[in-house]
Amino acid sequence: MENPCFYGALQALERLKLKALSIATDVKEGIDLDALVQALQHYPVKACWLMTNSQNPLGFTLTPEKKARLIEILTAHNVTLIEDDVYSELYFGREKPLPAKAWDKQDMTLHCSSFSKCLVPGSASVGLRRASTLAAFSIYN
Ligand SMILES: Cc1ncc(COP(=O)(O)O)c(C=O)c1O
Repeated sequence: MENPCFYGALQALERLKLKALSIATDVKEGIDLDALVQALQHYPVKACWLMTNSQNPLGFTLTPEKKARLIEILTAHNVTLIEDDVYSELYFGREKPLPAKAWDKQDMTLHCSSFSKCLVPGSASVGLRRASTLAAFSIYN
């Protein structure tokens, strides 16, 4: 998990009685990938839950290079990425930033998005999850 991260993600982990590692995250640069590598080398990590676009609460968007490196690191360690991309519609530039899943050739990313932030803010929770059975299987086994 990034530190800081969306509180709802921590609540979900708590409910599922899962353990979380907190990875240092910079307000502009995003997650510290060296710290992530260190954590992956020392702990039996199953999945990495983070936001690559408009991160909540810090607001940064990872560069394409950093998204590619993130995928490279997680693939090398056989770790599933749970990519929480609920704010991807709220970008400021000309082009919508791609999710890290766009770099994932091994299909190890659960890409999660939501319609509730742009279509029905503050009310219903309507979303979508794009996952491969491989990614789902590797988390639960
Ligand atoms: C980062 C993040 N992920 C997930 C959610 C949940 O999104 P929803 O239940 O609207 O689909 C929220 C809601 O605020 C959020 O901020």
